[in-house]
Amino acid sequence: MPEGIEILEGGTRILVPVEHSSGGPGKKGSSVFFNRQMAFNRDLSVMLLRARPELVDVADAMTATGARAVRIANELPHTNVIANDYDEKALPFIEANIALNELENCEPRIGNLACLLSERGFDYVDLDPFGSPVPFLQAAVRGCRRRGVLAVTATDTAPLAGAHRAKCERRYQARPLRGPMCHESGLRILMGTVARELARIDRGMEPLLCYYADHYFRCYIQVREGAEAADSTLAELGYYAYDPRTLERSFSLERDERHVYGPVWGGRLHDPELLARMEPEGSQELRRVERSLTVWRRELPDPILWDISELASHLKVPSPRIDVLLDALRSVGAAERAHVSPTTFRSNLPLPEIEALFKQASGLKEWS
Ligand SMILES: C[S@@+](CC[C@H](N)C(=O)[O-])C[C@H]1O[C@@H](n2cnc3c(N)ncnc32)[C@H](O)[C@@H]1O
Repeated sequence: MPEGIEILEGGTRILVPVEHSSGGPGKKGSSVFFNRQMAFNRDLSVMLLRARPELVDVADAMTATGARAVRIANELPHTNVIANDYDEKALPFIEANIALNELENCEPRIGNLACLLSERGFDYVDLDPFGSPVPFLQAAVRGCRRRGVLAVTATDTAPLAGAHRAKCERRYQARPLRGPMCHESGLRILMGTVARELARIDRGMEPLLCYYADHYFRCYIQVREGAEAADSTLAELGYYAYDPRTLERSFSLERDERHVYGPVWGGRLHDPELLARMEPEGSQELRRVERSLTVWRRELPDPILWDISELASHLKVPSPRIDVLLDALRSVGAAERAHVSPTTFRSNLPLPEIEALFKQASGLKEWS
């Protein structure tokens, strides 16, 4: 047994290195990687697979200690899980974690994920890299069965959210957006990249659950087979326009002189039917999972969002409470919180109406 400490996560025993991350993106140190904060991320994998019991063959392609793989195998005994990592130092941890939980449905494997995913297909393929998943996407797409699910993490938030524009353009072949929509746009750039990778082999996609949290983006994508599915998926990609002086913003399927940010996925982020079936019981981060599910379940599919702080400083009025503002907007149209930050929301109302109701909700009935 390697030197480490044992923790309990979601009812699964996990041996992790003594030195490990407990927040942020974590570091690529000399030891095997483990980040406690990603328990929420792993909870969601377990919940999603529990809601989709037909997904049996699971590849945790970048498993490190095997934390996600053993959680899936232990908490969902009907699955067959491969816990793969190319770092030999990971093997003693993976083996110890399989033994600790007395698992017969989890197999350790040391090797490049590209080899694993070219040898056989899986119902569920999980990519959880340091940084960008782009170098591994092609292998993941090919190793995922025709009706499988792809799970992809990206921790390179700085390029995706526009802090390193050139890097984003190189990696994702997409122009990122700065400002309050930067994480929404970063998430949708990642989704658009997965869509284009799938289309290369005549596959399309339907998002199951795609979110931004902490320091990372995460997408659960249902793969759809066939050229038609690929074409209709590509037809959902488009571009944002955003003017920080007027706050005007829009999404267009066509690129033009204003709509230059993207390409981004313009469709919905989540599958409401799947979210309705996802049960948080047994999660390590139960309260957080429950809160997040509530927001995701209500979230509107529109790719545009608004930020209370940005509107307040533009209109030079105090920020209203978000629930007060949402009630005011709902008296005329649709409005719901957006999950990317507690100060953001989506609405089907145009900017002038949002501004008028915003001023009202901020307590200033008349303002000029
Ligand atoms: C961020 S860690 C994974 C964390 C893990 N999924 C968890 O939940 O604790 C990324 C892992 O990917 C592994 N890795 C990087 N490139 C790989 C490749 N081409 N094939 C297999 N594993 C790879 C690294 O060795 C590292 O352990």
